[in-house]
Amino acid sequence: MRLQELNIIAGQRVLLRVDYNVALDAGRVAEPKRIDATLPTLKWLLEKKASVIICSHLGRPNGWEPKYSLRPVVDELNQILRREKLPVTACSLWDKPYPSPELAERAKTLQPGEILVLENLRFHAGEEKNDADLARGLAQLGEVFVQEAFGALHRAHASTDALPRLMAKRAFGFLVAKELDTLGALLTNPSKPFVVLLGGVKVSDKIGAIENLLNRGVDKILIGGALAYTFLKSQGHEVGNSPVEEKWVPRVKELLARQNGSSRIVLRKDHWIAQGLDRPQGAKVTENPGVPSGWEGLDVGPKTLDVFSREINNAKTIFWNGPVGVIEVPPFDRGSSALARLIAERTKAGALTVLGGGDTIHAVSKAGVPEGSFSHVSTGGGATLEFLEGKTLPGVAAIAG
Ligand code: 3PG
Repeated sequence: MRLQELNIIAGQRVLLRVDYNVALDAGRVAEPKRIDATLPTLKWLLEKKASVIICSHLGRPNGWEPKYSLRPVVDELNQILRREKLPVTACSLWDKPYPSPELAERAKTLQPGEILVLENLRFHAGEEKNDADLARGLAQLGEVFVQEAFGALHRAHASTDALPRLMAKRAFGFLVAKELDTLGALLTNPSKPFVVLLGGVKVSDKIGAIENLLNRGVDKILIGGALAYTFLKSQGHEVGNSPVEEKWVPRVKELLARQNGSSRIVLRKDHWIAQGLDRPQGAKVTENPGVPSGWEGLDVGPKTLDVFSREINNAKTIFWNGPVGVIEVPPFDRGSSALARLIAERTKAGALTVLGGGDTIHAVSKAGVPEGSFSHVSTGGGATLEFLEGKTLPGVAAIAG
């Protein structure tokens, strides 16, 4: 069910699960995008004069670790609420242990338009164990459940699985609905040609999505990041000191063989290489897809960039996940920056362009390209990839089921 189908009445208590797992820096929120992305839902609930109980995880704490407190997030949220002039009466943090009779009482006294943020869900071992008692304790607090935590939907945790199943009145928030619609369109009826650009290091994170996208008729998958080395090694190329996931070499080899030379998987043709990340001044471009012994591939080379650019220029739908080089160390950010600019131009030319994953967003921001230059920038990383694998995400099943 969608949020607008819920009949919310003034003073109704709404449990809102969000993904405020944001980067912190010196006790402040460094990147508020995930908070901003939930504003349409918050605004809608506050305009209905609901009382909102927000819950989220932050990081991967071991028990009640203060450095993972949601306090900085609540400070940021208060600033955003003021900036946006949302009709909120108060917004505070519940920083005591819970569930508890005290919190249940506090929830009952919430005023219409008031927000109470529960301290980090992962301070409880029960959250990641999908614990029924924790879910029951949370369920008592509200009359309606709204799932807005797109980035956490691939986790079967108490707040994403057991809890929504206990709530008769439940729905996806506006952000989750938009993410599911946009990513769903990539799998069902993308305008063709549909080109996927994959970066990052780990084949293991992406192999499922690669296989599902190929089965669903994607036109090209450009393997741009360091995950290319596992592919190149499987073809017998020398890869020097570049990272390879040995365990995945046989699966990748078999995948390429199954493609039977169809050229739908496009690998790197050349690389910028160096004798270590600390020696960028000696960097050079290779002649071919191999990397000599003692050297490491750190970015795509010009031939690769040419081939990738041709495919992207031809595409009507583009999905990009993961930088193609080591963006933290110039000049190995050049390939990612060039591709970010090109994909932004394709958006202007009418292509549907979808980006996923925190590292991709970082690459785009390093390139100085505003996020608004793309059709959709997903707030999910792992959730986006698992969705593209064709898996039913536990957090989706719990709302729909
Ligand atoms: C994310 O940032 O991808 C989500 O918040 C999920 O976090 P997790 O990988 O720690 O479960």
